[in-house]
Amino acid sequence: MPLAIPSGAALGADIDGVDLSQPLSAADYGAIARAWMDHLVLRFRGQSLTDDQLMAFSRNFGALDRNPRHAKSEMRQMEDSSDYVNVISNVVENGRALGGLGHYEAKWHSDMSYVPVPPMASALYALEIPPSGGETSFANMYTAYETLPAELKERIAGLTCVHDSSLNSVGQLRVGFEDVTDPRKTPGAVHPIVRTHPITGRPCLFLGRRRNAYVPGLELAESEALLDALWDHATQAEHVWTQTWQVGDLVLWDNRAALHRREEFAGSTRRIMHRTQISGDRPF
Ligand code: OGA
Ligand code: MN
Repeated sequence: MPLAIPSGAALGADIDGVDLSQPLSAADYGAIARAWMDHLVLRFRGQSLTDDQLMAFSRNFGALDRNPRHAKSEMRQMEDSSDYVNVISNVVENGRALGGLGHYEAKWHSDMSYVPVPPMASALYALEIPPSGGETSFANMYTAYETLPAELKERIAGLTCVHDSSLNSVGQLRVGFEDVTDPRKTPGAVHPIVRTHPITGRPCLFLGRRRNAYVPGLELAESEALLDALWDHATQAEHVWTQTWQVGDLVLWDNRAALHRREEFAGSTRRIMHRTQISGDRPF
C-alpha cells in the first residue's frame, strides 16, 4: 500500500512505494485518492514514465482534457505534441520551441479557470530540471478561506469573479485576444469566489488569477481593493508549500482547491516537463 508522507506545510504529501508506470490496483488507487483529497498536492518521486504511462496514470482520476491554447508568440514554432500531453519547456531545438511558458515566472493561478468548466487537476512530470529556479509553489484555498477575517467572509458570500481568458499564466496574450484595458470588460468565465469542493463538500476560495479580475456589480475601485485583500491573504506563506523539482518527480494537484505559481529560471538552462490535465466540473 502506498504511504503518504505529509510535507508538514499547509498542503502537499509525498506518496512512497508506488511505481506509476504500472497499472494501479483498486486498493492503491483508493489510498492515493484519499491522500489527494487530504493533501491537495501529491508528489511521486523517482518515477520513469512514457507519455502513454503518464496518460494512463492520469486517467485513473478522470477523462483527460486536450491541450490548452498556446500563446501567439509560441504557436508558430510549437512542435506538435500529443493531444493530451502538453509540453512545458523553455527549450528551443532547431528554432522550434518544445513547449510552452518559456523560462518566465508564472504568477499564481488555477489552471484554465477562465473557462466555464475548469479542469479538476493537472499532473506535471519532470524530465529535465535546471540547476536552480523553476520551483513550483502551491497554496491551500481551504485554509485560505477558513482563516479569512469574518467581515471578509461575509462580504464575499454570494459574490462572483471574472477570470481573465486573454493572458496565459506567464502573461502572454493568447491567440485571438486583445489586451484588456478595463477589467469591467475582461473576457472569461464568471465563477463564485467561494466554491464548494464537489468531493469533500468543503468551501474554498476560488480566485483563479489576479490580472484583469473583476467582481461584477462592484465599482472598479471596490473590486480591486477586495481582490487585493483576498489575494494578499490567500497567498501568505502559511498556506503555501513549494516543490523543488527532481528529475522523475510527478506532481498531481487539485486545481479546484489549490493555486500554483512557478519561479522563473535562467533561460540558458533547460527545463522539460510533460503535463496532463483532467476534466472537471462547473464550480458551484
Ligand atoms: C502548469 C504550470 C508550472 C511549472 O503546467 O499548469 O503552471 O512549474 N506549470 O511549470
Ligand atoms: Mn498552471
